[in-house]
Parts: sequence; structure tokens; C-alpha cells
Amino acid sequence: MIGADLSGKRILVTGASSGIGLATVALFARNGATVALNHLPDDGRGPAEAERLAGQGLAVTALPGDVANPGEAEAMVAEGIARLGGLDVLINNAGTSGTTAPIAFEDLDAMTEEFWGTILSTNLIGPYRCARAAAGALRASRGAIVNTASVAGLGRRGSSIAYSASKAGLINLTRSLARALAPDIRVNAVAPGLVETPWTAAWPPERKAATVERTMLARMARPEDIAETIFFLAAGAAYITGETITVDGGAM
Ligand SMILES: NC(=O)c1ccc[n+]([C@@H]2O[C@H](COP(=O)([O-])OP(=O)(O)OC[C@H]3O[C@@H](n4cnc5c(N)ncnc54)[C@H](O)[C@@H]3O)[C@@H](O)[C@H]2O)c1
Repeated sequence: MIGADLSGKRILVTGASSGIGLATVALFARNGATVALNHLPDDGRGPAEAERLAGQGLAVTALPGDVANPGEAEAMVAEGIARLGGLDVLINNAGTSGTTAPIAFEDLDAMTEEFWGTILSTNLIGPYRCARAAAGALRASRGAIVNTASVAGLGRRGSSIAYSASKAGLINLTRSLARALAPDIRVNAVAPGLVETPWTAAWPPERKAATVERTMLARMARPEDIAETIFFLAAGAAYITGETITVDGGAM
């Protein structure tokens, strides 16, 4: 397991009440950082997980806020910065597929305007809102942003056309923000393949088995596998910006 002394570092992770986000909060906090765990306001798992980690002696605080809501996302980041006394790393991890089961790419009628709106506002504009709100604090600390994209944004079949397009957009946004915020703030992304999280728990077993079948490392990723790469990009990687690292066990 990767590690570094992050005492005094202040981290904000969005969409962190479960899965990759929660594993990322735990990894940073175990390495000495103070972490704000963002969660949807009506998601009781957020405060419960923050309390559980704080009970282990870790510096974790629950931070409610919906990144898909203009205004609310920015206010949540501002509150996080105020509580942490600044910010060293923003991790834009909140995301949605907008569906419990994958939607066939051929089924164009299944994706309504509302569906597109939810996906883009959460997965693409959400990270932009949070980055804009955090830019001042991150400039002051010469910090970093890490976005959670997906192999779906690199041409792999995702849960829907809209989801894949949102993640392709996020990979492009990563490059644009890297340019816009240089040289003070590094901006990178991870592109996970299939990860064992609440997200994929309801996916058809045969689809998961087919993915594992063509994965060199012969298993799905665990949330901790993705958290480690996020940690590397945020805590190390001093000369890397604008990049997206694929973490898919060799499936691509
Ligand atoms: N699980 C996978 O196979 C996989 C693969 C590639 C990429 N991803 C990406 O990883 C990220 C994390 O997903 P996960 O797999 O850990 O699943 P997850 O469902 O456990 O985590 C997603 C989290 O985001 C939160 N969230 C959703 N909308 C939000 C909003 N508007 N504001 C704040 N929080 C919000 C959810 O409540 C949840 O806690 C997502 O961006 C997802 O697109 C997942």
C-alpha cells in the first residue's frame, strides 16, 4: 500500500460516502491528512462513515452538498475550505450513471433530455463548479486536483452513451484546467475500469464476468486500487499535469 507523510495537508473528496471516494478518504486520512468527506445531503452514509473514521482517530469531517446543483456545489467547497483552513487537494469523484442497469448504446430513445441533464450536470459540470470554487485556495497552497473519469471516456462501452460522453468530457476538462491553472495547480485524472462498488453491485453478472475474462490481472478492481492511483497523482507526481491514468488491470 502506497504511503506518504501528509500531516498538515487538507483534502476534499466529493461523492465520498461509498466506493472509490470512501476508500480515498480513508487512505489520505490514514496518512495524516485532514479530510472533508462530501456526500449528498440526504445520504446518511456520509455522516456515518465520517463518524466511523473519526472514531479510529482519523481527521475526517462530513461535508454535505450536491455537486449537480449550481450554487450548492460552490457553497459546499467554500464551507470545506473554511473548515479545513485552506485546501491542498480537491478530488472530484462524485458521479452518477443515472441508471441501475446499463443502457444499450443502440437504445437511443432510452436517454431523455432530463437523463442527459443529470449526467452532464453531475459528472462534467460538477467537477468544473468545484474546481472553480477551489482554485483560489489551491493556488495559495500550490495544490492539485484529481478527477475520477472512466475507461468509458476513452472509448470503452460505459453504462450509457451519455455517461461515456460525460467522462470523455471530463478527460478533456482535465487537460483544459491543467492549462488554465498552471503552473500553480496540477490537474490530473484516473480512468478506472470495472470496480467493485455499490455502483456495479447491480450490474448483470455475465457482463462483469466478460470484463474480468479480458482483464490481464483477472479480477475487478477494488476501490483501494483506484484510491492508490489518486493518492500518487495528488501526493507525488510533481511533474505530471493534464494526464489521465488508466487503472483497469490491463483490460484496455
Ligand atoms: N465502479 C466502477 O466500475 C467505476 C468505473 C469507472 C469510473 N467510476 C467512477 O467512480 C466514481 C465513484 O463511483 P463508485 O464506483 O465509487 O460508485 P459509488 O456509487 O459508490 O460512488 C459514487 C458516489 O457519488 C455520490 N454522488 C452522486 N451524485 C452526487 C452529487 N450530485 N453530489 C455529490 N455526491 C454525489 C454518490 O452518493 C456516491 O456516494 C464515479 O465518478 C464513477 O463514474 C466507477
